[in-house]
Amino acid sequence: MNTATTEPEYKLPPGYGLAASEAIDSTNDEAKRWAVNGMSGPHWFVAGRQTAGRGRRGRAWASEPGNLYASLLLRPDCAVGEAALLSFAAVLAVAEAIEEVTGLFRKLTCKWPNDALYEGKKISGILLESASDRDGALDWLVIGVGVNVAHFPDHTDFPATSIAAEGYPGITAPDLFTALARRLDHWLKIWRQAGFAPVREAWLARAAGLGEAITARTASEEVHGRFAGLSPEGALLIEAQDGAMREILAGDVFPANTGA
Ligand code: BTN
Repeated sequence: MNTATTEPEYKLPPGYGLAASEAIDSTNDEAKRWAVNGMSGPHWFVAGRQTAGRGRRGRAWASEPGNLYASLLLRPDCAVGEAALLSFAAVLAVAEAIEEVTGLFRKLTCKWPNDALYEGKKISGILLESASDRDGALDWLVIGVGVNVAHFPDHTDFPATSIAAEGYPGITAPDLFTALARRLDHWLKIWRQAGFAPVREAWLARAAGLGEAITARTASEEVHGRFAGLSPEGALLIEAQDGAMREILAGDVFPANTGA
């Protein structure tokens, strides 16, 4: 296990622990190691760079110094499926944090399931991981957040950008992390008090391309149709040309003219 040190420069809402390191394999992996060791959370793990950063669907996540790499360990008392919906709360928090530090207003949008976009380009991704106990109840949850602060990767399936590339070179990862921790705390409180409904509503208000033609690429097929919304369980709703409503549980989404 890597040694972690607490960095006083990070400011967190009350009640959160923090372990910050200059470099780590993956902040999600570090959070998972501590979860398995019995840490109760909520606890943030932040790193200046990652040597084995991971993205969704088994992809690598380029993790050079300058971007934000942070994971929050939680043990919410809820079912595994309910906890998975926290990825939508996380992307709202990312969008709001970026708007706060840049002074932008309502410029960030969300792409299903949990990417934040700036003018249609991916600026952040979220990797949610969890484990259940022997009875199937949620044991722990890790919400991993990567934000392109200073750099963005080339040659991605979907166009990408960074905060610096969009004209804000003075923003640092610690600045953004402070705002993110505060905004995610806000959405976690809403979720605890009122469940997924207000999170879903806020996510839909920021959804990129709602009502437009999209292509969803899943492990087994491509689904073409109109982006019709988000189900109460967090599935992507696509209305096919014959009017049938399809629920996509996992996959990647592209505007119809660029994707799959
Ligand atoms: C995606 O594929 O869009 C999700 C990317 C998630 C990257 C973050 S960076 C912090 C945390 N640690 C990881 O290894 N991954 C997540």
